[in-house]
Amino acid sequence: MADDRLILFDTTLRDGEQAPGFQMNLEEKLQMAAALARLGVDVIEAGFPAASPGDFAAVKGVAERCQGPTIAGLARCHPGDIKAVVDALQPAAKRRIHVFLATSPIHREHKLAMSREQVLERIKSGVATAREHCDDVEWSAEDASRTEPEFLVEAARAAVDAGATTINIPDTVGYALPGEFQQLFVMLKRELGDAAILSAHCHDDLGLAVANSLAAVAGGARQVECTINGIGERAGNCALEEIAMVVRTRPLAFGVQVGIDTTRLAPTSRLLSSITGVDVQPNKAIVGANAFAHEAGIHQHGVLAHASTYEIMRPEDVGVAKSQLVLGKHSGRHALRARLTELGHELDETAFEQFFSDFKQLADRKREIHDSDLEELALGRAVRTTGPWELVSLHTSAGTHARPTASVELALAEEGVRAEAALGDGPIDATFQAIARATGAGEARLIDYHVQAVTGGEDAQGRVTVDCLIDGVRVRGHGVRTDIVEASALAILEAFNRRAATRSLQAT
Ligand code: KIV
Ligand code: ZN
Repeated sequence: MADDRLILFDTTLRDGEQAPGFQMNLEEKLQMAAALARLGVDVIEAGFPAASPGDFAAVKGVAERCQGPTIAGLARCHPGDIKAVVDALQPAAKRRIHVFLATSPIHREHKLAMSREQVLERIKSGVATAREHCDDVEWSAEDASRTEPEFLVEAARAAVDAGATTINIPDTVGYALPGEFQQLFVMLKRELGDAAILSAHCHDDLGLAVANSLAAVAGGARQVECTINGIGERAGNCALEEIAMVVRTRPLAFGVQVGIDTTRLAPTSRLLSSITGVDVQPNKAIVGANAFAHEAGIHQHGVLAHASTYEIMRPEDVGVAKSQLVLGKHSGRHALRARLTELGHELDETAFEQFFSDFKQLADRKREIHDSDLEELALGRAVRTTGPWELVSLHTSAGTHARPTASVELALAEEGVRAEAALGDGPIDATFQAIARATGAGEARLIDYHVQAVTGGEDAQGRVTVDCLIDGVRVRGHGVRTDIVEASALAILEAFNRRAATRSLQAT
């Protein structure tokens, strides 16, 4: 790898996915991995296989289906964890085992109850075991930024001697400051030379994850670990779109290049938001809705006269289309297929035909169809959990003097239709209760509910995201419709379907 290449190691599916509210199912992870491969990241960390059977299946699924990037799996320095990564990564064309162990005094004393010597021994055995199975081994010093610098060097040397090819220095708790983090990398580079690629993995607790990652690059790091939209534990990780665009916009400042197709940044960010139901804030750098919106008259005047007066990047450089309006109900399959591909959605023939029919129905209800409408429809056909239950009909009533009620009919394959009715605090609650009864799913509670317009305009579709506790398991669901009560019913039903899917996974 040339010295001016900055390796982008994406951990959206591991560190990102482990944050509350960002869990993804297998189909969603596969869809996200395909988008990351199209974006051109160098490494995809697909999960932590020893953490759960679901994580193992996801890493294996990504390893089987995702072409292009190296696929990495995370492991503690334990033989069992490492074996799980080896097995899950077996189908990947390019694979990496990522082992980690905490090195800071706080972790050594309170979490690991291990001496420095024991930590060094565990690092050596973990890395050496990983190296027996794979030539590409990364070792991470968890809580590196709070580790005694001389011990960090000793630990990194032990990892290199045991065969690690990348040494990752996490700022696990988001405590580092750019100046000191840069110096840490300068020192590690001086001590280790070119024995391994140095990597930074920064958390955003003090809002410094991107600044610290850039400081690491200035100090000699040639890999940055990051996530789409900066999702991750607590305040999140370094945002991939930000690091990539800093390096691209200010090439002389860092002297490194990234190998991604930056025009895929906005579509990949939107895909993640649609999958998780969590939008980025409007003022988010690079991918926020306002990132390229000029409101003040004086700014608008300047941009119209010459875009560079107020723009340091062009919207099209990050994949924000100039016009997001697509053809209406007369559009043909060909045009739609082409637009979907531009937006980064690959549907097989069956899913595309269903998408096309959804599109026609939407075009009957909505005057203008925007890219985000298309993306919601495409996701509906690609990743939304369907079955075993389908919504056949829904009727709700509510008003100032009436107790809200809902009646639903659900179809269950082979069993036919089940009808139920319920009262609630409002029509959505009543719908939730009626669906819970019809599915007979056990104890169920709606924890969180939010609705967001997919596009502007009076006839906009509403995207409803629900978070529910069903039979002791927390599950999410989404529904998108121009009618938000119907969207709510679909979201609730998706949550019940997900719960049914996890039950059958547990049963196998
Ligand atoms: O933040 C951290 O320390 C991590 C490591 C496991 C790489 O995520
Ligand atoms: Zn982390």
